[in-house]
Amino acid sequence: MRLKDTGMTHEEFTATVEKYMMNLAPRFDLIADTAKGMSVFDENGDEYLDFYGGIAVSSAGNCNPKVVDAICMQALELIHGSNYPYTVPQGMLAKLICETLSYEKIWFQNSGAEANEAMIKLARKYGTDHYGENRYKIVTALNSFHGRTMATLTATGQPGTGIQNGFGPLVPGFSYAEFNNLESFKDACDEDTIAIMLEPVQGEGGVFPATEEFMKGIRELCDEKKMLLLFDEVQTGWGRLGSTMGYERFGVKPDIVSMAKAMGGGMPIGAICTSEEIAKSFIGAHGSTYAGNPICAAASYAQIKEILDYHLPQNALAKGKYFMKKATELPHVKEVRGLGLLMGIELEPEVSAAEVKHECMERKMLITAMGHNTLRLVPPLIVSEAECDHALGILKDAISAVAKD
Ligand SMILES: Cc1ncc(COP(=O)(O)O)c(C=O)c1O
Repeated sequence: MRLKDTGMTHEEFTATVEKYMMNLAPRFDLIADTAKGMSVFDENGDEYLDFYGGIAVSSAGNCNPKVVDAICMQALELIHGSNYPYTVPQGMLAKLICETLSYEKIWFQNSGAEANEAMIKLARKYGTDHYGENRYKIVTALNSFHGRTMATLTATGQPGTGIQNGFGPLVPGFSYAEFNNLESFKDACDEDTIAIMLEPVQGEGGVFPATEEFMKGIRELCDEKKMLLLFDEVQTGWGRLGSTMGYERFGVKPDIVSMAKAMGGGMPIGAICTSEEIAKSFIGAHGSTYAGNPICAAASYAQIKEILDYHLPQNALAKGKYFMKKATELPHVKEVRGLGLLMGIELEPEVSAAEVKHECMERKMLITAMGHNTLRLVPPLIVSEAECDHALGILKDAISAVAKD
């Protein structure tokens, strides 16, 4: 459905949205009418360079033709299955992901938060099954982001912020330690702790990568204390960091990993992967009506094949290095952080990231801003060097316009 199909003008349509929808957060001043590859188009056909990828989702390019084909074909054959019958897209996707990542078992969910919720539930159930019901505590990192359900917003290490405020009482059993500080995690864990849960790069928190030393130390700590290591790879998985999964960049493998975003190419699907032994704790104890829905699974199968067949993790690695090196030369930049194509540019305090984002929109490029002065850039992983140069040029002009150079 496109704007022309509604008979409304831009203003009439946006007023309709404002009237009927809960307006929970500011939107771009843009109607995303169509999209293709590295571009999003408004209702007039004006082209915007996509450097936000639908929040790190459209990794094989917007409306990737193979993903589109898979969705259309599957819709003609079987839209819904539930978890009672076997369905072919779900089974084939399970095989593809388990074999690619060398995990024994997978369980599908419908989003990132739901995948994390399942990961938390599985860790607790495993704790109860193996050590008794007091072993349920989970330590997460300060400044993390794990989702907006009750358990995942509690797991999100941002006490006192809008993510948690007003939603109390929060779920018991979560505590926070300082990211990249092994001693802080050691102090936070006790005999009732069953798991440590981490993002390899804190994405929503402002793009802060973990250090290899920290990740390896955490793995050893988990092994030593018989705790599970849980990685939230909702944003970092499937190529974003320059490797198939983010954990490969640290030489550390988690006991359970969650994923979503890029794996669906825009369709709502998430998953957790783990060992056969840990997965046993979920038998008869968890479920979902829609999870692993045939259309989402068919889209995800096509999307993951595209990511692997076209070596998009390798492209993310190369283009991320290229972009971040050049980004340090932009005016008013305090720090450039990131891994692969999960990139953050922290500007000098007097330059507002929200205003730079707005100036980028004016110059037909889409990015997101975080906190007061950090820009987040998460383009599709198909991005070329020429598109990186184009984006850097727009950023330079946008930053200079805001700083009034
Ligand atoms: C690391 C991480 N975990 C979980 C989530 C929540 O995913 P969803 O919005 O699909 O529920 C996000 C979303 O940005 C995320 O970045």
